[in-house]
Amino acid sequence: MPYGACVNIKPLQDEAEYRVALETYCQQVTPEYGLYWDYLRPTREAFNFDYGDAVLAFADANEMLMRGHTLVWYAAMPEWTKQISSAAEAERELETHIQRVVSRYRGKIKTWHVVNEPIEEPKGKVAGLRPSLWLHYLGDRYIDTAFRLAHEADPAAELIINDYDIECVGENFAARRQALATLVRDLIERGVPLHGVGLQGHIQGKYQIDTDGLSDFVSKMKSLGLSVHVTELDVIDAALPPPIALRDAMVAARAHDFLNAVFAAARPAVIATWGITDRYTWMPMWFKRRDGLPNRPLPFDRDYQPKPLWTVIDYFCRKD
Ligand code: XIL
Repeated sequence: MPYGACVNIKPLQDEAEYRVALETYCQQVTPEYGLYWDYLRPTREAFNFDYGDAVLAFADANEMLMRGHTLVWYAAMPEWTKQISSAAEAERELETHIQRVVSRYRGKIKTWHVVNEPIEEPKGKVAGLRPSLWLHYLGDRYIDTAFRLAHEADPAAELIINDYDIECVGENFAARRQALATLVRDLIERGVPLHGVGLQGHIQGKYQIDTDGLSDFVSKMKSLGLSVHVTELDVIDAALPPPIALRDAMVAARAHDFLNAVFAAARPAVIATWGITDRYTWMPMWFKRRDGLPNRPLPFDRDYQPKPLWTVIDYFCRKD
């Protein structure tokens, strides 16, 4: 099974050790933020494909596949999109964007995270769709529209929906899992070209994995004929104890429980982490530790030494 990681453009360009780690371990790469709207479209007219193209060139040179992240997301939207003021205009921009971006990478990006994080933060036991420009102007069918447009632009591409916080024990997670399962089932019933589901896997290290809930979710996806992808695995260690050996062991154990529950129901198409080394991780932006110690969410440490989390990932990648 392929292992993948998201790629940050700066160390890709500046740091040989970073490139070597990707070349040594990865079969897939995902541009970290180069395909977000706010990076791709600094103005309404201009498209900036520099980042995506650079990661693609690296992937091609090393016989890796590049994943597409992401076409529709509530976040990382450029300022100019605030001027959008009608359903017709929203639909026109969505169409322009998806056609332009997907056709540019047609046959190159074989898997697209078409809609990212469609499920809201639940209030209590139920979760609906997350507020966004798209939901506001186009209603819940914005998801159908996005998938249909992506399918038109590259009929051979695998199109997936991607979300987080479905794996742990708790009401919040159960609500999100339920909401995502229902959304996916409805999309399939409406004949939307949806081929798979991405579990981001930003695991909240302080909670246990809901192994039954997660396996059950993955079984449901499998019975709908969908592939399952682990797209952004890392373990949020903000609330885990400070000692490094202990923390690394706990991080690995959570990932083990997560992957074990997924594998109990289906073999995923990929295990991808959100970064490869603790040296470059988004984690402190959102989940800084109170004691000021650096986060250790990823399979390799700041010096590119493998951590117990790598042992777990490597084990599952080799498992039948
Ligand atoms: C993070 C990225 O790593 C940052 O570069 C970005 O600025 C903010 O978000 N879910 C996702 C990713 O789908 O795109 C997010 O990435 C992490 C949460």
